[in-house]
Amino acid sequence: MWQRKLQETLAKLVDSERGILAADESIETVGQRFKLQGIDNTEERRREYRELLFSTPNVGRYLSGVIMFEETLEQHDANGTKLVDVVRKQGMVPGVKVDLGKGPLTGSPGDMISYGLDGLAERLEKYQQQGACFAKWRSVYNITEHNPTSLALSANAEVLARYAAECQAAGMVPIVEPEVLIDGNHSIHEAARVSEQVLHSVFHALHLHGVALEYVMLKPSMVTAGKAQGRSNPEEVAQATLTCLRRTVPAAVPSINFLSGGQSPEEATANINALNQSRPRPPWLLNLSFARALQEPALRIWGGERQNRERAQAVFLERARLNSLALRGEYTEQMESG
Ligand code: G3H
Repeated sequence: MWQRKLQETLAKLVDSERGILAADESIETVGQRFKLQGIDNTEERRREYRELLFSTPNVGRYLSGVIMFEETLEQHDANGTKLVDVVRKQGMVPGVKVDLGKGPLTGSPGDMISYGLDGLAERLEKYQQQGACFAKWRSVYNITEHNPTSLALSANAEVLARYAAECQAAGMVPIVEPEVLIDGNHSIHEAARVSEQVLHSVFHALHLHGVALEYVMLKPSMVTAGKAQGRSNPEEVAQATLTCLRRTVPAAVPSINFLSGGQSPEEATANINALNQSRPRPPWLLNLSFARALQEPALRIWGGERQNRERAQAVFLERARLNSLALRGEYTEQMESG
């Protein structure tokens, strides 16, 4: 029964005090992050880096799952243990990013569409054999004077819904990630307006495709002003985000795991904290699935040097711990200095 399999995965993954690590950067995206630290983008470097993250002692206390890139599913640690098993031994659930990147949406200048539906069923089968229990698909939406167009809204919603339906049929929990990009000079009100349109279209498409919302996780952007406007106040972010989610996300969805989208680690943690302090409590868990906001400080300290490994792991663990406190609404910025 596919429902039972999905429920088993959700029981391990949905956790009020543990977030999900996104370590699913494509080879090109890792290259951009490594370049900033002067690290060569080789397969061995990527393997070493992911091993460092997944094997951080006790990290499973604060993280319930890891989204991996397909290359990582086949890699091993220095002792020959599959990285998927390193993740499992920490009590975390392995998952995989299954979209194949994005490109321009023809007919809608400035908008993007994600690729990867062709052959998806076969790939899901392979990823499950490799140990992945859940999947993630990211669609992106630019905010400009002209974007996203209604075509971009419907085309991306359709793709996300077809992906989610395929995952459920294959017994893999789908994380649906419609990312409204932070780039630009838009106001928080404009971000709220666009986010509402995006989520409305996504849930309409999920409904049309018969996706069971009880077995879906949503990974949206927080509603913030565009990056050019500077940092938004956490209480304002929480209020705008919750207003938008309440208007668009059915209560059947068990967990909403926000992406960090280019916010600084401290900013992303403060926003998650404010979301979890908001009352009345919403029907879904307000959780996280960060890549940059969990990894950035550790990557900077590692810098590709073996002797920095333990210090990088300590910093990574601390970031995960602070985020776990934020999930309980118990984080304060004073904790950062410690
Ligand atoms: O696809 C993007 C990741 O899943 C989340 O990354 O937290 O750096 O935005 P981010």
